Amino acid sequence: MSILRLASLKQLLVRPATNRSNRQAIDSARESLGHKATSLSEANDDLLTKILKGETSNNLVIDGRFIAVSIYQGTFGDLFAARPFGSLERVAIKTAACADFAHLIPLEAAGLARISHPNVVRFFGLFGGGNPYLLLEYIRGCTLGELLKGTRLSRPEINLIISQVLAGLEAIHRSGITHNDLNPFNVMIDRVGGVKLIDFGICSTRFKSANDQTRKIKTDLYMAARIFLQMVENGSATPALKVIKPLANAAQPDQHGYASSMELLRAISHYW
Ligand SMILES: Nc1ncnc2c1ncn2[C@@H]1O[C@H](COP(=O)(O)OP(=O)(O)OP(=O)(O)O)[C@@H](O)[C@H]1O
Ligand SMILES: [Mg+2]
Repeated sequence: MSILRLASLKQLLVRPATNRSNRQAIDSARESLGHKATSLSEANDDLLTKILKGETSNNLVIDGRFIAVSIYQGTFGDLFAARPFGSLERVAIKTAACADFAHLIPLEAAGLARISHPNVVRFFGLFGGGNPYLLLEYIRGCTLGELLKGTRLSRPEINLIISQVLAGLEAIHRSGITHNDLNPFNVMIDRVGGVKLIDFGICSTRFKSANDQTRKIKTDLYMAARIFLQMVENGSATPALKVIKPLANAAQPDQHGYASSMELLRAISHYW
């Protein structure tokens, strides 16, 4: 890799936006990413608005106070777009797909309640007692997984996504939490090119030992490295798959025994 390419990547990924052209490059990547997320989600979003306004009949009521519509039925969880009665402000509600997984919802709430960061979905509360529901910020946009199926990403867009994924991860790890399920379908891209990490259903909030914590954090970092490579493969430049391992291993534990997502960012800027 040429020194020039490495330098320009570092400028985009690591250095704060100190000069005008740098800021312009980031702004235009943010804008194009936002457009891509919007065009993939727009039709669905319009339909949700109609249903939530009561223009069609397929809505339901949750907890006697939310008008809701199902948006996703997974193995573990069911997701709803919703609005409180008397308001048009949209929220997301998550509940367990069946009684066997109901205990996971309060665990997810406990993890999310400890994190407040622009690159992590906002948590508003837990309700419903024995049949628990999570109340979350509704993210208008699509998952990175959907984006990778439907469109190609440019180099600045990839840089913008990975730096936000890693900033979110850094905040999660600082709060003593590991995500444990990082993949492109648990990363959402909103309509203004913002990245939000979701799905803390199997996160860990406590660790038996520093070693255990380091191992789990490394799993998150390894998955972040894989997400980076999936994005690169989806675009034009394709580095060999064998760089995945060195990338993940390059994220060495710091003096506190915690691996750092910033180490991974440095490793990525070295290989990319
Ligand atoms: N806050 C949110 N705003 C908008 N959509 C969301 C939100 N959270 C989740 N979704 C949508 O719902 C889908 C499932 O959410 P999530 O991954 O939390 O559930 P899950 O049951 O744990 O899923 P899986 O088991 O398939 O990973 C996401 O991929 C996304 O499309
Ligand atoms: Mg998920």
